[in-house]
Amino acid sequence: MTVTGHTPRVFSGIQPSGNLHLGNYLGALKRFADTQDSGTQTLYCMVDMHAITVWQDPAKLRHATRELCAGFIASGLDPAKSILFNQSQVAEHAQLAWIFNCVARMGWMKRMTQFKDKAGKNAENASLGLFGYPALMAADILIYHATHVPVGEDQKQHIELTRDIAAKFNHDYGVDFFPITEPVIEGAATRVMSLRDGSKKMSKSDPSDMSRINMTDDADAIAKKIRKAKTDPEPLPSDLDGLEGRPEARNLVNIYAGLAGISAEAVMADMGGKTFSEFKPALADLAVARLAPISEEMSRLMQDVSEIDRILANGAADARAIAAPILRKTYEIVGMVGA
Ligand code: AMP
Ligand code: TRP
Repeated sequence: MTVTGHTPRVFSGIQPSGNLHLGNYLGALKRFADTQDSGTQTLYCMVDMHAITVWQDPAKLRHATRELCAGFIASGLDPAKSILFNQSQVAEHAQLAWIFNCVARMGWMKRMTQFKDKAGKNAENASLGLFGYPALMAADILIYHATHVPVGEDQKQHIELTRDIAAKFNHDYGVDFFPITEPVIEGAATRVMSLRDGSKKMSKSDPSDMSRINMTDDADAIAKKIRKAKTDPEPLPSDLDGLEGRPEARNLVNIYAGLAGISAEAVMADMGGKTFSEFKPALADLAVARLAPISEEMSRLMQDVSEIDRILANGAADARAIAAPILRKTYEIVGMVGA
């Protein structure tokens, strides 16, 4: 993995807005943990400043930030190997975001599908922060000169915008300073769909709790949600082509593959021909085996909030040490006077 002229460095972020779910685990957390031992420096951030682009109750935000940190650690991230921190504690993110607000164009932001989805019909009433969200996200990544960003499929457009911002900055100032970051969207489950509707992605904001498996669900809840997941009456086909036009079945196969750490093809080789009354219990057992220990570890970690806060503070100090010289150099390129 190389991005011309830059040392490889991995960055990714998750919003502490509650309801961490299976999509976050398979699309992000599990893959973050897998990347941690690749020999590349890894930074993972709880993006609390992104969370407040829509209203967050302060007490809930505090809880969700700590719970997300517990979720990172319970999913296998080791604070001794990865830098874990919350965004607001490294002021350089906001400082670089301002510069990027002046580089990015209104037209670019207006095209962002996440903004359109989140703002809904009443875009005039959305916060300015929600509109500028992708410029802050570009700053999150580029303040570390991160070269690779593991994310779920839904973030692809934001990473493309990050590349556009880096390229325009480099071009406008006649420098080769910011890397053109690569999105890393790999694996069987980069887009986990709702358990109630195979055309909608699994999301923390879905009003139906049955649509998602939360990382805090216990074994019974996980098994029940899988048992009740929407499917069709046909048995599983013998290969992936046979799943064409069967989004709910395809989703359960992808979830199985993601949890087992195998390809969707390998799942079909094993499970092809089985009915859902046979496949669902196997999936439920696998999901419980993988997720219940994580949810138990999360509750254990949440009993010692001061330890979580200590981990976040250490992470922020390490992150700042990388970010500060990059911000200083950016200011110099832009023409800000200072020592
Ligand atoms: P968010 O919770 O929106 O901050 O998302 C955090 C990470 O989880 C991002 O990398 C997303 O791409 C990923 N993610 C969110 N929902 C899903 C999903 N349904 N399937 C796969 N990845 C997801
Ligand atoms: N926008 C991402 C999401 O909703 C969260 C995020 C913020 C992020 N900053 C980031 C992801 C930087 C990767 C890199 O999921």
